[in-house]
Amino acid sequence: MSPLTLFDFPLPDLLPLLIEEAADQNHWVPFTDPKTGQKVHGWLIKRLEPEGDLTSQKICWWFKEFLYLHDADVRPRFYWQTPGTTIRYHVDRGTQCSINVVLKGQGDYIAFNDTKTRYDCALLNTQVYHGVLSPETGRLLFKLSIFDRSYAEVLDVLQSTLSCRQAVFEDLRLTDLDVRPRYSKNLARTGLGTHIDHDRIVGINFNLMDEPATIHLRGKPFEYESAVIDVGTTPHSVVPLQTERLVLKLAIRAPWATVIDRVSPWIDSVYDKTYVSALKDNEQHLVKL
Ligand SMILES: [Fe+2]
Ligand SMILES: [Fe+2]
Repeated sequence: MSPLTLFDFPLPDLLPLLIEEAADQNHWVPFTDPKTGQKVHGWLIKRLEPEGDLTSQKICWWFKEFLYLHDADVRPRFYWQTPGTTIRYHVDRGTQCSINVVLKGQGDYIAFNDTKTRYDCALLNTQVYHGVLSPETGRLLFKLSIFDRSYAEVLDVLQSTLSCRQAVFEDLRLTDLDVRPRYSKNLARTGLGTHIDHDRIVGINFNLMDEPATIHLRGKPFEYESAVIDVGTTPHSVVPLQTERLVLKLAIRAPWATVIDRVSPWIDSVYDKTYVSALKDNEQHLVKL
């Protein structure tokens, strides 16, 4: 089994925010080997709590949902490897496997035993000997360290989740479009004020709760289990409920007409057959999320 599995980072919109977060100089400390107590020259770490409002923490939560790791010990952290510093061969202490995203220095290699590889985003078996050869320009890494699941276990879920996603995209004829899945969650008694999503996106929403999901479009409520919604053009809101709301949303950066055409075999009721997607000048200020 390869110790490294490449995949596309599923939340590309968040990468600039992640880099911005890493640029905050607080909490960076020299990496210290927990076994020897020695500092590793030229290697810095920024450890974060798993939960909170930082981008790194939101991504940690998202991956826990995505990979059914709800009760797993997953911790986000950044690493900065200064130019010319080599991380010698080692196995991680405690971290069984990890999801790594290279934020700067993608041209540099990680070596597993004798195999050198470049990657942007990957699941890694950190219990196999590995090292990072001296980067030329410095290497910034975001890592979700998974402490209590093996590489094989996480890989199994990752592969089935990605192939399931691929199958859904094929069924909906969306494979050639820019589709970014995300979960949208409202805790009990929280809602979302009236807004329009950025980039004129079209949403395909799937309700994941027992009770139907409700979205208000121009103040009018619509209950749904699954729906195609012009959320990048139409003002919409979510009214607070007594219960949680969890929706899987495919955010699609394509014209409304294209999306409707693609998913038309699956549509069984259309609210307004005369609808034409057009962002109104006097509603531009609502484009927020
Ligand atoms: Fe490592
Ligand atoms: Fe929205």
